[in-house]
Amino acid sequence: MAVYNLGSINADLFYRVPHLLAPGETLAATEHSRGLGGKGANMSVAVARAAARVKHVGAVGPDGRWAVERMLEYGVDTRAIIEVAAPTGHAVIMIDDQGENAILIHPGANHALSETDIQQALTDATEADLFLFQNETSCQVIGATQASARGMRVIYAAAPFDAESVKTVMPLLDILVMNAVEAQQLSDATGADLADLPVRDIIVTLGAEGCRWLNTDDGSDQSFPAIPVDPVDTTGAGDTFTGFLVAGLDRGLPMAQAISLGQQAAAIMVTRQGTADVIPDLKDVQDARFG
Ligand code: RIB
Repeated sequence: MAVYNLGSINADLFYRVPHLLAPGETLAATEHSRGLGGKGANMSVAVARAAARVKHVGAVGPDGRWAVERMLEYGVDTRAIIEVAAPTGHAVIMIDDQGENAILIHPGANHALSETDIQQALTDATEADLFLFQNETSCQVIGATQASARGMRVIYAAAPFDAESVKTVMPLLDILVMNAVEAQQLSDATGADLADLPVRDIIVTLGAEGCRWLNTDDGSDQSFPAIPVDPVDTTGAGDTFTGFLVAGLDRGLPMAQAISLGQQAAAIMVTRQGTADVIPDLKDVQDARFG
């Protein structure tokens, strides 16, 4: 079994700042660094670090070869990453002293994927495989439609959140992952309670409050307490959660165990500064002994 991840690849430009910028303000950063990122790339690296097979479906420009090489080094199958005549996506990430962030993304090559690229990438996919995607690339509906037609389990991490995008793909989804604010926005946009949405498994991350899993088939609604940690940087923690969750499911774990694995990996991730380059692996999770 494998995870096919249709996802963004960004150069992440990090700026440590005393506080997040206000409109019209100019502020000097106290630190700066660059790394591999993009919600898609972060999730692919997390899946690989959690010891599952992952094929990344994405695009970079000629300036993004370093990113593809780095993903390969991290254990991601990069054969379905194409090179296009557009600049690689990038993100400007401000992080304040409380570990909160504000992110500006330029999609670049992430929006250059075509239907043919998706078709080619999924040629060898089977119903035993999982299809993961987020809201930072083109061809999301095409990808989810093709994956669903192949009988793959379809998982959407609805970030950056856009209610209309979620509504469009919702009938194709098996699993939907959102945070609490996004879940409320989706309820408002659909006029429906989460339990009435046409997706079998809905996972809502609640930050310091933990996580919630609704199974709309049997009506169960399970809460998972948070793991207490002192965060230094929350960037990429949600991506790490989803990557480990999906890897757990791919490796046959029951949903509750896969969620718990995702929570443990995310708890480590918030104590680290950076995104794809600092995602923990299974050994880090075992060594952390969260219980
Ligand atoms: O979720 C964090 C990610 O969001 C960053 O890596 C950045 O590239 C943006 O896509």
